[in-house]
Amino acid sequence: MIELIKSLPKAELHLHIEGTLEPKLMLELAQRNSVEIPYTNIEDIQKAYEFTNLQSFLDIYYAGASVLLKEEDFYSLTWEYILKCVDNNIIHTEIFFDPQTHTKRGVSFYTALTGIKEALNDAKKEFGITSNIIVCFLRHLDQEECFKTLDEAIEYKRDIIGVGLDSSELGNPPSKFKELFNKARKEGFKIVAHAGEEADVSYIQEALDILKVQRVDHGVQAMHSKALMQRLKEEQIPLTVCPNSNIELKVFENYKKHNIKELLDFGLNVTVNSDDPAYFKGYLNQNYINIYENLKLSKEDIVKLVKNSFNSAFIDKALKKEYL
Ligand code: ADE
Ligand code: ZN
Repeated sequence: MIELIKSLPKAELHLHIEGTLEPKLMLELAQRNSVEIPYTNIEDIQKAYEFTNLQSFLDIYYAGASVLLKEEDFYSLTWEYILKCVDNNIIHTEIFFDPQTHTKRGVSFYTALTGIKEALNDAKKEFGITSNIIVCFLRHLDQEECFKTLDEAIEYKRDIIGVGLDSSELGNPPSKFKELFNKARKEGFKIVAHAGEEADVSYIQEALDILKVQRVDHGVQAMHSKALMQRLKEEQIPLTVCPNSNIELKVFENYKKHNIKELLDFGLNVTVNSDDPAYFKGYLNQNYINIYENLKLSKEDIVKLVKNSFNSAFIDKALKKEYL
């Protein structure tokens, strides 16, 4: 089964490019760009990756991103992830990036986007890997600030398929961004949002009803509402579940307690993703392997999860057909 997991071509739909920054590259970029970080070696960095919840991770993740300054840094970051895609047999990937993490440090939207985009273009040329870019708004910031980011996304619309919402979930419900997402929808962007990662089912309901998301990122708290589960099943709204992330951020105590198998058995459109793999002990195959080993997944379950990932991707019918 592990060989099957490794050999199946897969799509990844929930991946923060800043979350693929490996300790080695972090140290190299810190040196290259003369950025001070509180670590001198890889072991120090790895020791810091002990998280108690989402916020404890985000604090370290934003600090790590401070080494990314130039277009070529974003290129290196993205290219390293592409090499992991090759290892993991990921043939299509949809990448989040957080412009506000960079613009607040004086690094322009254009610089980050161009570095990422160039690497993705090369990935297509060199390996045939297809991709989409999704811009995420940081929900701990206010809506006014996010409008500036949306305006930049509109400027580079031809390179951006959709917009999403990430960062500190608790206390920052989707309804805070109603007007922002109304505008994004009118501009023709696909819409996703992190919801029900740590916060209760009302955040998932708001993401569906107010932001009108086409996919829910995480969504694992849906199990606390029978009515919501029924709706997600009927409408087949994709959930981009991230098992390693949920364990590392203590959403579930351990892999045996993860609910992905229950969600799948109920008939939800569930996918498997790696979220921030450099921080959460493993890339996509490792996420599949961890749930397979702990939750008695069958071969049919694995195949269904992989098919769901292609069916839920923002790609046209012809490409979907080719991949499925
Ligand atoms: N940013 C990067 N990873 C995230 C996650 N798992 N939840 C919210 N924001 C994030
Ligand atoms: Zn995420």
